[in-house]
Amino acid sequence: MQTYDLIIKKRDGQELEPEEIEFLIEGYVQGKIPEYQMAAMAMAIYFQGMGKEETVTLTRALVNSGETIDLSGIEGIKVDKHSTGGVGDKVSLVLIPLLASLGFKAPKMSGRGLGHTGGTVDKLEGIPGFRTDLGRKEFVDQVNRVGAAMIGQTGNLAPGDKKLYGLRDVTGTVDSIPLIASSIMSKKIAGGAENIILDVKFGKGAFMQEMDKARLLAETMVEIGKGMNRKIRAILSSMDQPLGRAVGNNIEVMEAINCLKREGPEDLREVVISLAQAAFQLENHDASREHAREKIETTWKEGKPWDKFQEIVQAQGGDLPTELPLATEFKFKADSSGFVNELDARLIGRCSVVLGAGRKTKEEEVDHQVGIYLQKKRGDRVEKGEVLASVYARDERVFNQAEPLLQKAWLIQENKTEIGPLIGDTID
Ligand code: URA
Repeated sequence: MQTYDLIIKKRDGQELEPEEIEFLIEGYVQGKIPEYQMAAMAMAIYFQGMGKEETVTLTRALVNSGETIDLSGIEGIKVDKHSTGGVGDKVSLVLIPLLASLGFKAPKMSGRGLGHTGGTVDKLEGIPGFRTDLGRKEFVDQVNRVGAAMIGQTGNLAPGDKKLYGLRDVTGTVDSIPLIASSIMSKKIAGGAENIILDVKFGKGAFMQEMDKARLLAETMVEIGKGMNRKIRAILSSMDQPLGRAVGNNIEVMEAINCLKREGPEDLREVVISLAQAAFQLENHDASREHAREKIETTWKEGKPWDKFQEIVQAQGGDLPTELPLATEFKFKADSSGFVNELDARLIGRCSVVLGAGRKTKEEEVDHQVGIYLQKKRGDRVEKGEVLASVYARDERVFNQAEPLLQKAWLIQENKTEIGPLIGDTID
């Protein structure tokens, strides 16, 4: 088999056979296929796409390129959630304890934030003593005992994806649905996921800005999951504006706690409930969403998710204070009156990186105490001089650096415009 011939085959729009895809990934990981040939192949895939069979085979080949985590020691119905990433996305912090209090097992491995979106592990590490580095046995034992654990990613999972993603990043081939879907799914499956619920974001702050592209990504990931014998469902949720009002690390943990106590923002609660409903429907296709919602609401009213969160924190060595510390508050005010018709999630995300809450490169440390609290969101009425956001910054100089981004983030107009749906379709 010659790599050259396979590049030509894909370039001309033909489907690759499973053994050809396996040859490519194996050869690339072992260094037998050079970067320039793989770059040409990625570009051919970018333009010609991939069929369902090819996408499933590519995912399997990426999974097989490294270690896989065996979670068979966890008893019960395991549910793994994945989000394509968003600004103010603290869904896992609420959903994982909720799933555990509903009787599911929720072993959660999360990443760190990069660019304008934050990471769950960074947020949890703001809780004094909280360990995100549990060993494999500790992780499995805790999930069996408590119902859930939240840790950082471990192991050499899908190294083929890591290498290919690095290449795509510098060759203009990231933005290809089959490559993105197989990349995400290979890491999930290598991480031991069985039942999978996906939160695919669309809108300004999302990886996939247009709803149609987000839907296609969700459909492709669901197809891959099914092709690999996983139970899987996806929801589409809006990331036009940040989720909730808090963006940062400690500030998002505090908002998630409020949500767990049923005091939280409505949009966050709705996304969490939609994902929990999807988890129920994975097990029982015919279960009605209403019935699932009733069960979720009852459990939540009984205070169980909040109790479960505290149990998880304690099990992982954390000592949760009443308030997590925040940096100095600066007020960002409106310079006109009207209705907030836009609140650009991407700009708010970039602003949080300027403050130090996120990282521009993998090596940077995050500052847990800085962040933004959005006092006014889409649809709200605002008067000139009113506070649009409380900005928690280390000093005035940093606040001044963030201000130009904030100035562009809110669109305030005389007439109120329609706001699109928070939750799009469910894909199964
Ligand atoms: N995230 C991933 O993990 N892979 C991609 O290809 C794109 C986003």
